[in-house]
Amino acid sequence: MNILSPSILAADFKQLGEQIQAVDRAGAQYIHIDVMDGMFVPSISFGMPVISSIRSATQKVFDVHLMIQNPERYIEEFAKCGADLITVHAEACQHLDRVIQQIHDLGRKAGVALNPATPLNVLEYVLDKVDMVLLMTVNPGFGGQKYLDSCTRKITQLRNWLNETGYDTDIEVDGGINKETIHKVLKAGANIIVAGSSVFGGDAEKNTEELLNIMKTYEA
Ligand code: DX5
Ligand code: ZN
Repeated sequence: MNILSPSILAADFKQLGEQIQAVDRAGAQYIHIDVMDGMFVPSISFGMPVISSIRSATQKVFDVHLMIQNPERYIEEFAKCGADLITVHAEACQHLDRVIQQIHDLGRKAGVALNPATPLNVLEYVLDKVDMVLLMTVNPGFGGQKYLDSCTRKITQLRNWLNETGYDTDIEVDGGINKETIHKVLKAGANIIVAGSSVFGGDAEKNTEELLNIMKTYEA
């Protein structure tokens, strides 16, 4: 099934709870939560207190994207504050296999994210262990950037690889996805779609419904 994960980085933080409830009502299945540390990426967003506070706003899956260096330092805290799915960057982990294990030991789903320039082969010996691969379709760090066309081929390659191995792994795409670019990522084989500015940059409920309607047309 195709899943929409609106990124609250683009939400209006003075009414964060209401904005989350708007996308929840419209049918978004996940809530994408971008944590930035000012080291792995240039910007700083928010952390555990914000996540704990919004946990009661919705029952939807908290899809936490950690853009932080050495994320093993904080996995337990993110699990405690309400993360259901925890994604770490391959580029930020010294011992990626161990971090995936750490996430699973806490009973959470594990995702691995790759920057646009990182080749798929870093996944070779962990592919059987991850629940989701997040392919960045912009360089991480900011919302509102333009989709990088070089990433479409990468999505196709990963989908083909997963089909060959028979693993039931989700492919999430993140960055520059809107009502136009969503078509290419769905065609290429992505099934979890992150959208920040194209959801919260206007009427969040309506935008969510429109993106979900497009996604339905690609369901098998
Ligand atoms: C970028 C973040 C994204 C961001 C996407 O580093 O990981 O999740 O919020 O924003 P849009 O959809 O506006 O490109
Ligand atoms: Zn993200």
